[in-house]
Amino acid sequence: MCGITGYTGVNQAGPILLDGLKRLEYRGYDSAGIAVRGDDGIKMLKATGKVSHLVEKYNETPDFLGVCGIGHTRWATHGIPNDTNAHPHLSADGKFAVVHNGIIENFAEIRSELQKYGIEFKSETDTEVIVQLLAYNYNGNFKLALMKTIARLEGSYAIGVISADHPGTIYAAKLSSPLIIGLGIGENFFASDITALVNNTKNVIDMDDGEVAEITPDGVKFFDHAGREINKDIRHITWDVAAAEKSGYEHFMLKEIMEQPQALKATIEPRVKDAEEIVLEELKNLDMKRFNRIHITACGSAYHAGCVGRGILEALCRVPVEAEVASELRYRDPIMDAKTLVIVISQSGETADTIAAMKECRSKGATLLAIVNVVGSSIAKLADYCLYTWAGPEIAVATTKGYTTQVVLLAMFAVWAAGEMKTISRGAYISLVKDIIRLPERAQRALDLNSRVKTMAERYNSNSSLFFIGRNMDYAVALEGSLKLKEISYIHSEAYAAGELKHGTIALIEPGRLVVALCCYEKLLDKTISNIQQVKARGARVLAVAHEGNRSIFREADDVLTVPVTDPLLVPVIEIIPLQLFAYYVAKLNGCDIDKPKNLAKSVTVE
Ligand code: AGP
Repeated sequence: MCGITGYTGVNQAGPILLDGLKRLEYRGYDSAGIAVRGDDGIKMLKATGKVSHLVEKYNETPDFLGVCGIGHTRWATHGIPNDTNAHPHLSADGKFAVVHNGIIENFAEIRSELQKYGIEFKSETDTEVIVQLLAYNYNGNFKLALMKTIARLEGSYAIGVISADHPGTIYAAKLSSPLIIGLGIGENFFASDITALVNNTKNVIDMDDGEVAEITPDGVKFFDHAGREINKDIRHITWDVAAAEKSGYEHFMLKEIMEQPQALKATIEPRVKDAEEIVLEELKNLDMKRFNRIHITACGSAYHAGCVGRGILEALCRVPVEAEVASELRYRDPIMDAKTLVIVISQSGETADTIAAMKECRSKGATLLAIVNVVGSSIAKLADYCLYTWAGPEIAVATTKGYTTQVVLLAMFAVWAAGEMKTISRGAYISLVKDIIRLPERAQRALDLNSRVKTMAERYNSNSSLFFIGRNMDYAVALEGSLKLKEISYIHSEAYAAGELKHGTIALIEPGRLVVALCCYEKLLDKTISNIQQVKARGARVLAVAHEGNRSIFREADDVLTVPVTDPLLVPVIEIIPLQLFAYYVAKLNGCDIDKPKNLAKSVTVE
């Protein structure tokens, strides 16, 4: 969702801010804007729609000069997407401009209070109260006015503010919304997301809730909620610009699908010793014997990874495991206590529902283990224990390598936990570790299906509605395959437990309807085949995904995609790959905006 960035230094801020905003586009937005502190005060440019419109406006405004500025991509929450509601917002006296991510929950109350003092508001946004209140609180001391202002704010915010009276200085502050400071030489930056900074610096500082940063070209000072100066650690980013760029691929999604063998390696290799031992340094103080149940919670694809994790954990650890979407769990008053381990899964580490569910579980005494990709994110910090997937930046809204690395890390955790709980034999443990180590190579072989999947997409892209069916692990993959197709191609599809079709949904099967049948969970293959026969008898066309060497499936399905054989518990990591490619090529054939599908955002930071 919204993205913010800021720059202060000796170079023109405009191009740097616009570059940062382009890199934040993937988060989802519907308008954008920048403000700089020019020679004669604050100047602003805003545009509804794409950042490219803002770039056009910038190119037509040669006097938009200033070496200190802030920028924003807005995903509308309060007020329609238009130039007035787009950020930055300017105080009525023209002295301050602000960009803001998050939601100010008590904005109505602050606004009516300020209106009583005669302050006029221009926009419908919650954000405008920040800048108006700041101007109202200002008596020459920028920092003090900001501290006083944020003390009144309820909700969530990551903000950047510039002042006409203080050239070269930016203040940034954070509460429950991500904010990172980038350190340069003679120039400094801030952003809601590392991808906006990586072109300029590899040295970053993660801000924590309640903190304020004073950013000038010469350095950055940090203050706690009471205004006392504090020291913060610098983090060095290891990935380079190419990791956040398309590297010759037409879309980030395709690049990220193709990157899966490397991403899986990055998740697996540092955690395996002597090719037979899983070492999870991060969990050395976690006593698994304390827990008598496990809850998994997450949203969207991360929840689908959790559905796979539930199967693996129950199979190996023999404890009851539940998986539930965070938006439901948070309001369900779940039954859990100090003997419950809650595993939360999130690529971005910023999903609002997941964070709220974590807080709910913590209030009940549960221990929180997070599986997260973005280092230093809110979920990583909130958890008692954190395992990073180390998949590298994921830019496309549709997650691909994010999902497969979550699944493999859940599998590694399950094998490790079963070892700790002594519910797995040594032989089974070693055999699973060996299969895990081979996943990157098998993922590569699944990617070799690329051109065949493209042919399948050409054959079936005109279907307006289809089904994904499977049993056990195959069903968990069906959920993710169906979501992938829906979110980027806008084609309706449904994932069904294959055995459940006959209880109603089979009524929708008619001649020509495409059913994607997932057939890699071989323990239940015969059962799935009989479900295939049932839909075929009603005229459906069947595209099956099956293991290499499975001959029987060729007699049953119209088309088959074969993937390398792996342990039944690890099937999803490989089986999802052709489905990711299928969704990608169908969306491409249908002319969809693949990396930025309509109505969606990469990081869902609002409820
Ligand atoms: C997946 O392709 C989605 N865009 C979405 O379902 C996503 O997985 C979900 O919003 C959770 O995000 P997170 O992993 O960053 O928490």
